Amino acid sequence: MKDVVLSAEETAAINVWSSDSQSLVREMLGKYPEKRSAVMPLLYVSMIENGYVTNEGMKTVSILTGLTAAQVQSVASFYSMYKREELGDYLISVCTSISCFLRGADDVLAAIEDESNVPDGETGDEGKFSVEHIECNGACGGAPVVLVNYEMIEGVTPDKGRELVKWLRDGGPDVVNTEEMQQLFGGERAFDWGVKELEGAILPIPAFGPYGSARGDS
Ligand code: FES
Repeated sequence: MKDVVLSAEETAAINVWSSDSQSLVREMLGKYPEKRSAVMPLLYVSMIENGYVTNEGMKTVSILTGLTAAQVQSVASFYSMYKREELGDYLISVCTSISCFLRGADDVLAAIEDESNVPDGETGDEGKFSVEHIECNGACGGAPVVLVNYEMIEGVTPDKGRELVKWLRDGGPDVVNTEEMQQLFGGERAFDWGVKELEGAILPIPAFGPYGSARGDS
């Protein structure tokens, strides 16, 4: 990783961010030969900092990468995991692509919407849940697939979807973990995944280290 020297403008742009985020900025910029190549991880840093990708965050990433604000916005708006609005504590994502659809994903989504009282694509007033449908998550053999803060559960039924929402609401776990939720709410798995992700996620933001985990967990 190369040493990163920030210009006065770049330093001023990230001065409003936490020292952890400023360190992450330097770390991410140090991993790429060209600053512009760090646009995606830097957008995640801005998302960690603000909870979602704000206009100010995109301006900061524009300054850091040398890309235009329009170019940064085009990246942030293309990928659905960059959120432009504040999320609830738990982002529940239900795959409704063809394999999951054929195994009843629409009913799972309806049960989760009903139990959480949050419609697809929205965040509840109390800020506990965000619910969304997503495209194929690449685990079709375990359909239907549900993710909580990007931690995956396979073989979820409508009843198990309701139990999952109750468990999150009543227990309010700080960390959600694939292995635990699969045991409690999952059904048949496609196969045993080679790499078990043991740390879990504490934010509805995919970050660094193990997929879906909070920074510093790896
Ligand atoms: S269709 Fe749902 S994981 Fe592929």
